[in-house]
Amino acid sequence: MENTAVNYSSDKKVMYQEVCTQLKGLIEGVPHLVSNLANASALLNQAMKDINWVGFYLIEEGKLVLGPFQGKPACIEINMGRGVCGTAAAKDEILLVEDVHAFPGHIACDSASRSEIVIPLHANGQVAGVLDIDSPYVGRFDEVDKEGLTEAARILEQELWKDHCENDEYRINNNDGPEILLANLDKLHTTDLGAERIRRNLGLEMEDVVDWCRLKILDSNSSIVRSGKNWYINTDAQEITVNAYSYTIITAHKKRRAGKAE
Ligand code: SME
Repeated sequence: MENTAVNYSSDKKVMYQEVCTQLKGLIEGVPHLVSNLANASALLNQAMKDINWVGFYLIEEGKLVLGPFQGKPACIEINMGRGVCGTAAAKDEILLVEDVHAFPGHIACDSASRSEIVIPLHANGQVAGVLDIDSPYVGRFDEVDKEGLTEAARILEQELWKDHCENDEYRINNNDGPEILLANLDKLHTTDLGAERIRRNLGLEMEDVVDWCRLKILDSNSSIVRSGKNWYINTDAQEITVNAYSYTIITAHKKRRAGKAE
């Protein structure tokens, strides 16, 4: 799609950092799901080169239903397990498809599409929709796209579902006690960038920082407090922030002294 008006770094990693910063600015504090998804698709469309469709499908009554997007009109309902989107949602797996013609059951909304990436979006630890991006070039998407888009998806998850979560099947009580977090520790996860950030902030070297955080949450000396969209877990030396809708570990940092974060 034509998107020459806005300049982003030609280094894809940096471009995704720019996009994520803009995305936060655009959606933070905006309590409108459709507006946020519409702006997110417009932002990705203006930043990403060589794509012909970018948008969202959201789960409604067990099916993926077309949400805000940029590109040609697309199919409205996709059954779970069907096509690339339905498979990604059913398996809760990011799918990076080099050549859609080689993907059994691919649903061709635009015959120009040749490669595709689909990132599941979560609410309260469950898949609630997908971000779908198509390109007219075979092999357009790589690991850098996967990482950058996963980070964008995590930002969306933190903001998107507030209305949704508080109003319907993803209902979350803002007065939730720590037992809710403890009961959902199997859903705890983070992104590659999140893991890097946590290792760097805390000076950790181990691969599995999620497990390290899980043990801190289970430690009876830790305090667990729900405030707004996040859980805050305080140990004597660190504070860990976990999104209460998606169970994503957002960050963790050392405290300068007891009770005071750096
Ligand atoms: N190709 C997708 C369908 C959605 S459109 O590409 C917008 C799929 O196979 O799930």
